Amino acid sequence: MIELNVNGQAVKADVPADTPLLWVLRDALNLTGTKFGCGQALCGACTVHVDGNPTRSCSVAVGDVAKSKITTIETVDQSREGKAVQAAWRKLDVVQCGYCQSGQIMSAVALLKTNKTPTDADIDGAMGGNLCRCATYQRIRAAIHEAAK
Ligand code: FES
Repeated sequence: MIELNVNGQAVKADVPADTPLLWVLRDALNLTGTKFGCGQALCGACTVHVDGNPTRSCSVAVGDVAKSKITTIETVDQSREGKAVQAAWRKLDVVQCGYCQSGQIMSAVALLKTNKTPTDADIDGAMGGNLCRCATYQRIRAAIHEAAK
């Protein structure tokens, strides 16, 4: 039995310690906002925050984050940056198919928590690991600037 802190709650999951965090979130805890894309830490769809850091949940063993604070898209709007990012996403109509967007938002929030006024280069650097097959990159960049206002 693994004990975790997810979205401010102490939770337990009856899974082997080497289970990827992504599958614990989705299958054991029913937090399905975090998406599976590549499963190889290449696309960013599965991004969550582990102790505030954007983390590819498909490639982290749940046993390695048992002492960490995990935040998912389901509660990221409880932070000021999370609220601002989600509002900007809606205002600028960022989403196309939407599949990658929870991971995009998690990375954007993590960026704004450490950099209140990111430049285009800062945004491109922080968001480069989050792929979008609909190519909403320009709107994502604009929405991060909007959220930083
Ligand atoms: Fe984890 Fe693609 S599903 S990075």
